[in-house]
Amino acid sequence: MNVPPIGFIGAGQMATALAKGFIGSGLVDPKKVVASDSYDMARRSFTQQTKAEAKERNADVVNQSTIIILAVKPQVLPGVLTEIEPLITGNHLIVSICAGVPLSAISAGLKGKGRLIRVMPNTPCLVGQGAMAYSMGQNTTTNDGLLIQTLLQTIGLVYQVPEKSLDAVTGLSGSGPAFVYMVIEAMADGGVREGLPRPIATALAAQCVLGSASMVLKTGEHPGLLKDKVCSPAGTTIEGVAALERNGVRNAFIQAVHAATVRSQELGGKK
Ligand SMILES: NC(=O)c1ccc[n+]([C@@H]2O[C@H](COP(=O)([O-])OP(=O)(O)OC[C@H]3O[C@@H](n4cnc5c(N)ncnc54)[C@H](OP(=O)(O)O)[C@@H]3O)[C@@H](O)[C@H]2O)c1
Repeated sequence: MNVPPIGFIGAGQMATALAKGFIGSGLVDPKKVVASDSYDMARRSFTQQTKAEAKERNADVVNQSTIIILAVKPQVLPGVLTEIEPLITGNHLIVSICAGVPLSAISAGLKGKGRLIRVMPNTPCLVGQGAMAYSMGQNTTTNDGLLIQTLLQTIGLVYQVPEKSLDAVTGLSGSGPAFVYMVIEAMADGGVREGLPRPIATALAAQCVLGSASMVLKTGEHPGLLKDKVCSPAGTTIEGVAALERNGVRNAFIQAVHAATVRSQELGGKK
């Protein structure tokens, strides 16, 4: 695939993770990647980790890139859009990873210029294990979607969804890592309570989540069926499962995703 020059506005954690994924996969030459950041340390760290150039001026990135990835915090985005808008042409594919910012706000900030895609990443993108979804915005082509899908797949699992579904994606995979960290912590507490040293308990709990997640993704089997296969009649695991059901664990997770989705809708001004 012939990937056009990519520019990141903001050279922080997420920009670095994305650039590392794109370059590490061999899809993109570091010479075709550039970032801008107001913060000198961020620029140096970006270049050190990716071997790609980092500049001070956002305008330089816009002028030398075709794909522009908006990777600043949402609160500084309006100022960035005002700054780069005069430089945007129909040739630019603008990809926003800013949490909670709707395509309509980006389009308004850029006065309807450029082709737009909005991505909802999550923190495991930082270790190449993200769960993401993206939505196509104004003027985009099937090819733009394919290109972004291919690039994002270098740092995790990606689905295309309509923009109205991005609040649910935020509630599930955006907020999900915090829910899973709580599960790991609680399982480790259980292990410690039963006499295991804390570091061993935490490592076993985390690996258990990683391994079980891999089983779901690699076998394609329904998680309920995989659970059934671990539960032997009158065995230990079914006792644990019954204890979880008594304490409403399933409902707790459904409610957690719902609460986070509603909050995302509220922050986006939809409720
Ligand atoms: N980190 C995650 O796991 C995650 C998950 C989902 C979504 N996101 C989204 O990804 C975006 C980036 O997050 P991040 O964690 O990578 O943030 P970050 O590490 O803080 O990176 C943002 C960088 O942009 C710089 N910056 C600020 N104003 C700028 C400007 N006007 N022009 C150019 N650069 C500017 C910041 O410098 P200063 O520090 O000097 O301000 C900082 O170095 C956010 O919108 C966030 O919502 C992140």
